[in-house]
Amino acid sequence: MVGIDKINFYTPNTYIDLEELAKHRGVDPAKFTIGIGQSKMSVPPISQDTVSMAANAAYPLLTENDLNNIDLIVVGTETGVDESKSVASFIHDLLDIHPFAKSVDLKQACFGATAGLMMAVDFVRLHPDKKALVIGSDISRYGLNSSGEVTQGAGSVAMIVSSNPKIIEIEETSVSMTKSIFDFWRPNYSKTAIVDGKFSNEAYISFFSELWVEYSKRTNLSLEDFSAFCFHLPYTKMGKKALLPILEKEAPKNKDLLLENYQYSTNYSRDIGNIYTGSLYLSFMSLIEHASSSLTATDRIGFFSYGSGAVAEIFTGKLVDGFKDSLLSAEHEKLLTNRIDLSIEDYTTMFTKELSIDSDGNHLFNQDKTDNSIFFFKGTENHQRLYGKN
Ligand code: HMG
Repeated sequence: MVGIDKINFYTPNTYIDLEELAKHRGVDPAKFTIGIGQSKMSVPPISQDTVSMAANAAYPLLTENDLNNIDLIVVGTETGVDESKSVASFIHDLLDIHPFAKSVDLKQACFGATAGLMMAVDFVRLHPDKKALVIGSDISRYGLNSSGEVTQGAGSVAMIVSSNPKIIEIEETSVSMTKSIFDFWRPNYSKTAIVDGKFSNEAYISFFSELWVEYSKRTNLSLEDFSAFCFHLPYTKMGKKALLPILEKEAPKNKDLLLENYQYSTNYSRDIGNIYTGSLYLSFMSLIEHASSSLTATDRIGFFSYGSGAVAEIFTGKLVDGFKDSLLSAEHEKLLTNRIDLSIEDYTTMFTKELSIDSDGNHLFNQDKTDNSIFFFKGTENHQRLYGKN
C-alpha cells in the first residue's frame, strides 16, 4: 500500500479582502464572493517566491528519518525561479536532505504536482523502503485590474509519499487525457498569464465529464462508490460547475453527501485563491480537515487534476485508519487567522514590487517586515538566488 503519509500547506501571511477589492474596482462584491466564490486572496511579498514557499510547506513535515530516506524530490510548478535550475534542487539544499537523492521539477500548468505524485507513487512501489517528497508551489498572476485578477493567489503544498501511508492510499487505476489547446498559457517573455477565461472554464468541464465517462467505464465504479470528490480549484465555483452535471441523475442522499463534502473541500481555497499546482491538494486537505467527522477509513476520494494547455487526470485514493491523527488542522487555522489584511494601496505596492538587479547580478534586501515565515528569499548575489532561514 503506497500513498500520502503526511501533507501540509503554506501561504504567505498577507492577503487582500475581495469585498474591498470589488468595491475599489466598482464591481458588486457578490460577484466575487458568490459568482466566483472567493473571499480572500493571498498576496506574496517579494521575500516569498516559489522556492521559499515550497520550503515553508515541507519543513514542518520532516523528521530525521524522512531526511535520510527521501530519495526523490519532485516539484510541480509553472512559476519556477530559473529556466534551468530546478526548484527541487534548491529545496534539497534548504531542507538538508541526504546527498544521494534526485531532485527534479515537472511542468504542465496546474497538472505538474499530480504528475509528480504519480511519479512518486510509482517510485515507492518499486522501492518500498524509500520515500518521496512531492511539492506543488506557485504564484498565480494575471495582473492588476485584469479579468482574472480575483482568481490569483500564492502558496505551496508538500506531501511525503511512502509505503503504509498514514493518510491516504493511492489506488492503481487512473485515467488521463491530453489536448493541446490555448485556454491559459504564459509565454517565456511574460510575467503574467494570458487566459481565455470562458474557454478555460468550458475546457475544464469537458475534460472532467469525458474523463469521468472513461474512468467509470474502465473501473465499473459509480458515484455511489465515492464519499467525496476533490477538484483543482482555480476559484471555488469551478469544481461545482463540473460536478453538478454528473450528479443530475444521482439519488438525493448520495448527491447531498457529495455536494456537502465538495463544500468542505473549498474552505481553504476560498481564503487563499488559486495556487495552481498545489490547488487540488489544498482541496483535499480542506476536505479531510473540515469533514473529518463524516469521513472514515476506507472511504474512497476522487481527485480531478486539471492543468491548462491541457492535461487532466482522474485518480482515486482510500483514506486509511487513523488518518485524522496525522492532520495539521490547528496549525493551518493559526496560519490563516494570523494573516495581515492589506489595504488596496499596500496590495498594489506589493504586487508591483520587483527586483532591481544591477549589471553584476546583485540585489539583496531585508525580509519584508510583514513576512514572519521560516524560509525567505533574500535577493540575488552574482546572479545567484539566496535564501534565509529564521
Ligand atoms: P468574469 O468575466 O469576470 O466573470 O470571468 P463572469 O462574468 O463570467 O461571472 C462569473 C460568475 O459570477 C458568473 O456565474 C456570473 O453569473 C456571476 P456563472 O454563470 O459562472 O455561474 N455573477 C454574479 N453573481 C452574484 N452576484 C453578482 C454577479 N455578477 C456576476 N452581482 C473568470 C470569470 C473565472 C473567467 C475569470 O476570472 C478568469 O479568466 N479567471 C482565470 C481563468 C480561470 O480561472 N479559469 C478556470 C478554468 S482553467 C484552470 O482551472 C487552470 C488554471 O488554474 C491555470 C493552470 O492550469 O495553470 C487557471
